[in-house]
Amino acid sequence: MEIDWILDRLKQGGVVAIPTETVYGLAADASNPAAVKAIFTTKGRPQTNPLIVHVASVQAARTLVTFTPEAEALAQAFWPGPLTLVAPRRPDAPVAEAVSAGLETLAVRVPAHPLMQQVLQALGRPLAAPSANRSGRPSPTTADHVAQDFGPPLSILDGGPCDKGLESTVVQVLPDHPVQILRYGSLSPQDIAAVVPVAEGLGPGEASPGRLLRHYAPQTPLVLNITVPEPTDAYLSFGPTDHTGPCFPLSARGDMTEAAQRLFAQLRAADTSGAPRIAVAPVPDRGVGLAINDRLRRAAGAVG
Ligand code: TXA
Ligand code: MG
Repeated sequence: MEIDWILDRLKQGGVVAIPTETVYGLAADASNPAAVKAIFTTKGRPQTNPLIVHVASVQAARTLVTFTPEAEALAQAFWPGPLTLVAPRRPDAPVAEAVSAGLETLAVRVPAHPLMQQVLQALGRPLAAPSANRSGRPSPTTADHVAQDFGPPLSILDGGPCDKGLESTVVQVLPDHPVQILRYGSLSPQDIAAVVPVAEGLGPGEASPGRLLRHYAPQTPLVLNITVPEPTDAYLSFGPTDHTGPCFPLSARGDMTEAAQRLFAQLRAADTSGAPRIAVAPVPDRGVGLAINDRLRRAAGAVG
């Protein structure tokens, strides 16, 4: 699709798919209540799960939420980029109520992808955008994945494969509260801690409604931490393997950044391979591996 067509659809209150550096987003005008409602119905998303609002610059983000000094420091360090800040919603924020699902906070992100930036700057309005998968499915890192979930009626801006492959790290920045990570993502806890003091582990599930839902699930049964897969398994390997059955390497050289980039694409490919089971190699639980393992546990059926 051409960018002008995408802009027209957005101005008319339509829902479109746009690439970001993390995953593809299912975007609509955040200031238009009907457009926001259409995101929830298109995606099959529960109304209780709030959306991230995307803007072109830190300056635009300041019109939506109030910034603590910690929020300022994080924004300066990581925007544009794969960081989402959850902060108090400003009463005059030009954003439909449904975006924040009744919460007093708003999740805001300044994405880095040049196409998403181009759309945001040309539109001059905030865009609400969850990941462009049907609710419960693995997130999309190519235009093809989006088309697999939604088919031809959805307009997709094709930006090729996403650079990071994992969603943004969601960080809560409230006055008089320690900075708290709500969702592991593309930025590791160490990346965040290098800029501001941050509480250990993840914040409570109630503070992050999306974590309480089943997510990223393939249709094929999936088992984790498998070093010796069954011959018929579709194997998501990490590092060298001598598996003779269908193999979907996360990273043959055991590189965590590459594994993050490929995770969702390999999950989808393994799922449609016809194998009776997907087996996943152990991935170290540090750095971006925390986010990879979080997505894998959910794909295996865990919530919380
Ligand atoms: O990288 C990303 O973050 C992608 C791209 C498209 O920007 N978006 C994305 O959106 O992953 P979504 O909707 O799939 O995940 C957003 C997460 C959900 O878990 C949601 O519950 C949480 O952010 N969230 C949104 N608003 C929140 C709020 N006000 N307080 C706490 N959590 C919030
Ligand atoms: Mg999602």
